[in-house]
Amino acid sequence: MGDLLITGCSQLLTLKGPTPRRGRLLAELGLIRDGALLVRDDRIAAVGPRRRIERTREARRAEKLDVGGRVVLPGFVDSHTHLIFPASRANEYERRIAGESYERIARSGGGIRATVQKLRRASPETLRERALEALRRFAAHGTTTLEAKTGYGLDWKSELKTLEILHELHQRQPLDIVPTFLGGHIVPREFQRRPEGFVDLLVRQWIPAVATAGLAEFADVFCDRGAFTIAQARRILVAARECGLVPRIHAEQLSHTGAARLAVEVGAASADHLERISRGDIRALALSNVVCTLLPGCGFHLGIAHRAPARELIRAGAVVALATDFNPGTSPTLSMPMILSLACAELRMAPGEAIAAATINAAYSLRRHDRVGSLEVGKYADLAAFDVADYREIPYYFGVNLCSVTMKRGAVIHSTTN
Ligand code: NIG
Ligand code: FE
Repeated sequence: MGDLLITGCSQLLTLKGPTPRRGRLLAELGLIRDGALLVRDDRIAAVGPRRRIERTREARRAEKLDVGGRVVLPGFVDSHTHLIFPASRANEYERRIAGESYERIARSGGGIRATVQKLRRASPETLRERALEALRRFAAHGTTTLEAKTGYGLDWKSELKTLEILHELHQRQPLDIVPTFLGGHIVPREFQRRPEGFVDLLVRQWIPAVATAGLAEFADVFCDRGAFTIAQARRILVAARECGLVPRIHAEQLSHTGAARLAVEVGAASADHLERISRGDIRALALSNVVCTLLPGCGFHLGIAHRAPARELIRAGAVVALATDFNPGTSPTLSMPMILSLACAELRMAPGEAIAAATINAAYSLRRHDRVGSLEVGKYADLAAFDVADYREIPYYFGVNLCSVTMKRGAVIHSTTN
């Protein structure tokens, strides 16, 4: 690949600035009006005002791509997804609308366990094809990097099957997939009477095996009522850390358990959900490098009124990120633009804050802020162009996909113009 000059960026949001973003700096977008980018191979070679960039000799010789006066920003980094699942749970959706709660459906044999039962029977080909289709849609909504968790297998064979699919997908399509081992999603049915036996298995066998084989970078645990206790989650995450897997945690979603403090204690990369955190938790998180990954798709889809205190977290100086939590039970969306709309309307985040949370801070939570999350020289040319006149219109026009071009490592992977 030679050089490529990208012009026609009416607003170019570079997201250049301190990383991670805290407090007031979260709204700092590094906006350039009438901006341009020079891309060399898969990286950004120059970025700035068009008039300056296009004057250079390299730019004059480069192939040209005019994105037509659109808003250009770094590709979204979706730092929390459950990419691999066999089917929707639309039946449960209808039951919830009729009044049954998520937890009650889970206790009656639905929920995560229903998905586990199906995934164990699904062929790797079916799961892979389904995920490939989802990945094409992620790309069409402007996402260029995503984290993906296991956790619907929960026996060794099916967890391994999921991890192998994730690795294959990473090779076979353009988006970067960051694998997280979520063996601690829920206690599977066969261990229901002896959950400690399952934790032993995770800690003594599965986590070391995943780490040794280099199959995941992160390990996650669902610490909540109906899933794992604090003591169990601590054992799992400490074991993971000892093996070199970086902890992440599903924390304080349905009940307050102390999981946010556990995230700080074990030095987790991220504590996700946080709908039920206390003031003390906010202070502890703000003093740490744990990213507070908010997932407003869940509250919306489940119709739960409790919201994560985004404003308080930002004010306290915590690192806030946003993600879809793409999964069949609580957040079946892969649209980051929709997540931005929810973050603005329901969590009262400013559009600029939501964009920084969905790019540079999310990249930081995946330990990839040196490569993605902002448009700076040396980073991957991962970007999305939106068919709007002002970046605030990305969340403003909710429920519609206005992403017209997505580029991953210098290659156009989605375009509505051809
Ligand atoms: O992030 N909370 C645990 N895991 C998912 C839900 C998974 C499911 O219901 O299938 C979540 O919300
Ligand atoms: Fe999740």
